[in-house]
Amino acid sequence: MNSSIPVITIDGPTASGKGTVAHLVAQHFGFHVLDSGCLYRLTALSALRRAAPLNDEHAIAKLGEHLQCHFSGTHVFLGNEDVTAAIRAEEVGNTASRIAALPMVRHALYGLQQSFRKAPGLVADGRDMGTVIFPHARLKVFLTASVEARAQRRYKQLIDKGFSASMQDLSKDLAERDARDMNRASAPLKPATDAHLLDTSGMSAEEAVAQVIGWYLAL
Ligand code: C5P
Repeated sequence: MNSSIPVITIDGPTASGKGTVAHLVAQHFGFHVLDSGCLYRLTALSALRRAAPLNDEHAIAKLGEHLQCHFSGTHVFLGNEDVTAAIRAEEVGNTASRIAALPMVRHALYGLQQSFRKAPGLVADGRDMGTVIFPHARLKVFLTASVEARAQRRYKQLIDKGFSASMQDLSKDLAERDARDMNRASAPLKPATDAHLLDTSGMSAEEAVAQVIGWYLAL
């Protein structure tokens, strides 16, 4: 029964450090990782490439349902193409946030997300991991950080990857994306009632990881 396989969920807003913390916690326990945002980004990239109208819920959900994606280490493939860098572009992130508000798209990606639950365990990062996808997770964490701290992190990530970026545009995009993620009717971004809250604004990734590992070991 895969319901006995432990899951740690790490939810939170854009650039709160979820991805880094999830990978390091998974590494520590030898668990698998689900970057659920990546699945929304892959669906968004498919939609942009096919010039699918973003308000056509049926068409976008179909793209999500039939995503031909696979993961190899830190690389993400759509069909045979390595799209690891392409899905991180701001346009793809913003489109992902728009299509993620569509209930049929969320439904289409449900089974794929569940399929990541494999022994010996899973660390799942996203917006609704603890509230919708894995409501019985053994440990739920909700990461937050100030808009300034998150814009700074996103700026550094983009520059390191060779993209150009402006702090002002990033702060505006983050605030808009937060508002869309928190105010949508379907699976809005919010902490599960039984989630541990962690504000990472003044914290290093290592400190945040140590806190999550400590919570898990104390269960
Ligand atoms: O986490 P990331 O920024 O890669 O996610 C891209 C977008 O996908 C988010 O802005 C959010 O709108 C959406 N998303 C979601 N639910 C998840 C993960 C991501 O709605 N579990």
